[in-house]
Amino acid sequence: KIEAIIYDLDGVITDTAEYHFLAWKTLADELHIPFDRAFNEQLKGLSRIDSLNLILEQGSKSYTEKEKEQLAAKKNEHYQTLIRKISPDDLLPGVEAFMKEVKQAGIKTGLASASKNAQTVIQKLEITDLLDTVVDAAEVKRGKPDPEVFLTAAEQLGANPDNCIGIEDARSGVAAIKSAGMFAVGIGDRETLSRADWIIEDSSLLSLSLLKQKYD
Ligand code: G6P
Ligand code: MG
Repeated sequence: KIEAIIYDLDGVITDTAEYHFLAWKTLADELHIPFDRAFNEQLKGLSRIDSLNLILEQGSKSYTEKEKEQLAAKKNEHYQTLIRKISPDDLLPGVEAFMKEVKQAGIKTGLASASKNAQTVIQKLEITDLLDTVVDAAEVKRGKPDPEVFLTAAEQLGANPDNCIGIEDARSGVAAIKSAGMFAVGIGDRETLSRADWIIEDSSLLSLSLLKQKYD
């Protein structure tokens, strides 16, 4: 029995993964640190500061904690400029229909995001009503791949993690779902998401009936 479906936000519900990439790219260019899409793959799902540390390791300079805070704030300014015009039109294909179908089937729904901007983004997407709970970076101590964010969402929903499904686009996110003891759906690259129980190429292939078949 599926008690709850817990969604990642960036790259699953909307393409803010692209905006995170662009914002990091701008910062890395300013610092003259090499940065490309392949490198960005491993940042997906990681907290802002963990991502920054990985990027800075690619350069030769060392930075004080204070400088790092300023750089993280700068990236967030770039990011917030990019998400300013997000609207319901930015929901990825098939996502809204799937989320509605899940709710109608009586399955609880939650969001498990590593982003401190999650509340802003879901408000702009106007999907607050489709989520029974939202857990974001402000609420958890340990980021993905730690399972805390998914386990917290399950707890808030009163669901047994064994009966939950997590949906992710990031390797670290799939790892978090699996450590939480949940069934993992990966959206994106088969190799990157190899630990997922069901992998689909893009969100338009989300289907509750197919998911139930894979889950059973
Ligand atoms: C998400 C993204 C990451 C991002 C993290 C923190 O999960 O996948 O790329 O670094 O959230 O986002 P924030 O908005 O708090 O900087
Ligand atoms: Mg993601």
